[in-house]
Amino acid sequence: MTVAVLGAGKIGEALLSGLLDAGYDAGKLLFTERHPERAAELTERYGVAGVEVAEAAERADVLVVAVKPQDIDPLLDELSGLIGPSTLVVSMCAGLPTALFERRLPEGTPVIRVMPNTPMLVGAAMSAVSPGRHATDEHLRTVEELLSSVGKVIVLPESQQDAVTALSGSGPAYFFYLVEAMIDAGILLGVPRNVAQQLIVQAAVGAGKMLDEGGQHPVTLRENVTSPGGTTISGIRELEKHGVRAALLDAIESARDRSIELGKAHEE
Ligand SMILES: NC(=O)c1ccc[n+]([C@@H]2O[C@H](COP(=O)([O-])OP(=O)(O)OC[C@H]3O[C@@H](n4cnc5c(N)ncnc54)[C@H](OP(=O)(O)O)[C@@H]3O)[C@@H](O)[C@H]2O)c1
Repeated sequence: MTVAVLGAGKIGEALLSGLLDAGYDAGKLLFTERHPERAAELTERYGVAGVEVAEAAERADVLVVAVKPQDIDPLLDELSGLIGPSTLVVSMCAGLPTALFERRLPEGTPVIRVMPNTPMLVGAAMSAVSPGRHATDEHLRTVEELLSSVGKVIVLPESQQDAVTALSGSGPAYFFYLVEAMIDAGILLGVPRNVAQQLIVQAAVGAGKMLDEGGQHPVTLRENVTSPGGTTISGIRELEKHGVRAALLDAIESARDRSIELGKAHEE
């Protein structure tokens, strides 16, 4: 099966790199890029051929669309004359519904929408996958298999994609923000920045591993380090006083609403 990545930017490159790391044959991968220097750099780094969109459409069984949502219109215009229902189209474009692709591509073209996130760069993506109207279980399995080489995969109804965008799409940014704020706290306490950074990053890595591998609920894990009259509960009281939980609920709801708003720009 030949896979072509259309738009090898951050996400497209991460996918190519993850597939190669997982043992995918470089000869079965293609990509398209607008800038020749960037294409040459990618070919040198990964041994994957950069081609024109027309060639990618002709040779690939699966086209992974990884351009920015604002660049989608000319690409769909170009693809509509080049592919048929035997090509599986996988869209990674935030906010764009499968219906948009189905409307603009030849009748019967199978489309699968994916919301990945940037930890794909280190093989730890969360990819939420939703099949469109013409995608079969086999198409879904193909995409699940491809994406499992760059992280975890979950299949969800498309109606939940805006929530997914807010939770796992933007999620890493919220963790980076928390880490940044905690490093600042270290500075406030007189700890050198590089030391504070090491302490907090390792706390985040350790907490992430415990959440992922330990099988315990986050409440249990938090209670285990919150002893009566201790230091952690003092800190928790301040987090509650400042409404951190409510702020997170509002932040994620607001990101979900923004995703809906962005998607509306492409409605008929
Ligand atoms: N980054 C994330 O955290 C994230 C998370 C989830 C989903 N996504 C989605 O993934 C997609 C890609 O995001 P990104 O962050 O990887 O963006 P990016 O780094 O800007 O990559 C997009 C690439 O596509 C190229 N491109 C645009 N139109 C093209 C065309 N017609 N033919 C060939 N190449 C074309 C762009 O070239 P130029 O440099 O010339 O523009 C750029 O190199 C977006 O739709 C985004 O919504 C991103």
